[in-house]
Amino acid sequence: MKSIPLYKPYIPFALKHSIALPLKTGWLGYGRYAKQIENMFTNKFGGFAISTNSCTSALYVAARLIYSTPNDEVIVPAITFVSTAMAFKTAGLRVVIADVNESGILDVSLIHKYITKKTKAIVIVDLYGQKAEINKLKNICIEKNITLIEDCAHRIGFYDAEKIADICCFSFNVMKELPSGEGGLIWCKNTSLENKARSIANVGLCEDTIKRTSSLMHRNYFFSNTHGLKLLQNDLVAFYTINLFKSRYKKNISARKQIFNKYDKALLKINHITLLSRSEQDSFLMYVIKIPAEIRNDFREYLANNNISTSMHYPNLADHPLFSTIELCTNAKKFSNEIVTLPCYPALTKRNQEYIIKKIEDYFNNEN
Ligand SMILES: Cc1ncc(COP(=O)(O)O)c(C=O)c1O
Repeated sequence: MKSIPLYKPYIPFALKHSIALPLKTGWLGYGRYAKQIENMFTNKFGGFAISTNSCTSALYVAARLIYSTPNDEVIVPAITFVSTAMAFKTAGLRVVIADVNESGILDVSLIHKYITKKTKAIVIVDLYGQKAEINKLKNICIEKNITLIEDCAHRIGFYDAEKIADICCFSFNVMKELPSGEGGLIWCKNTSLENKARSIANVGLCEDTIKRTSSLMHRNYFFSNTHGLKLLQNDLVAFYTINLFKSRYKKNISARKQIFNKYDKALLKINHITLLSRSEQDSFLMYVIKIPAEIRNDFREYLANNNISTSMHYPNLADHPLFSTIELCTNAKKFSNEIVTLPCYPALTKRNQEYIIKKIEDYFNNEN
């Protein structure tokens, strides 16, 4: 058996040939295709959107929009990729790490103990593609005048009726739902923040390059009093993302859902394995199980010896030296010691998935 990777982006055959199309426009930077993705989101959810070169960049723009003084705090769940917290740290906020529930998602029932007068925002993550329940959190944020930010890197949720968070940040990196290499988007409900957000994403300038150069006599650079970085998406990648969206977004969700169902059905029977709960609105991006911490290493070594890749998403951010917490985040500590990510991607063959399941069954049968 050839080794089975954890993840493999699905590259539609038709796109391999059309990818050169944007070259014909002669404009490769932030332009019509990057704006087309923005329009897709604003036509659907209102507000404004900016195509960025990553979700980390989108989170950084979000952080800068809410930042006012170095005392500002943001609450971030303990189980997430480090970007979710690092973007806020880099923007100058104090990151407070909060504990999670049994699904690894921010535990809203504990949130009051992390909220202080300095809390400017709370970030919730749709971890692994699980649709986070945010209505209760939204009410708490409204009551306390706190911005609610959703890290949608694992779940675009394009067919949601609305976006409840004030700001949503998306990822189109190679491991995500629309794997385009690198890419992201910030969507924000409050349109009065658009000019500032655009300046932050464009080295503090008031106009993007395509607008500034739209007449033969290019306009001068308009400075603003906002500082920023180069965070905008380019049209080559944006074109690819749009086409992936059109051709594969829904199909990939249903392909991954089938893989999830097959794993769930087989692994449910194994006593040592705990499955995460599912909802029809999940994106089914990453297949993660929990097994007893004391056997995790042995289990992963065994799968590796059988040519099956696994991973652990993610370590507990309460252990990160740059972030603060008021306690050890005991749920997150337990969770991060028990999780194992198994291969899951639309092109995972039936044969390979059956092989993975068989090897897992053999492991636990021999144990008992
Ligand atoms: C939950 C989460 N948030 C944010 C990011 C950052 O996304 P990007 O790689 O697009 O910057 C990732 C990337 O893995 C992620 O998993």
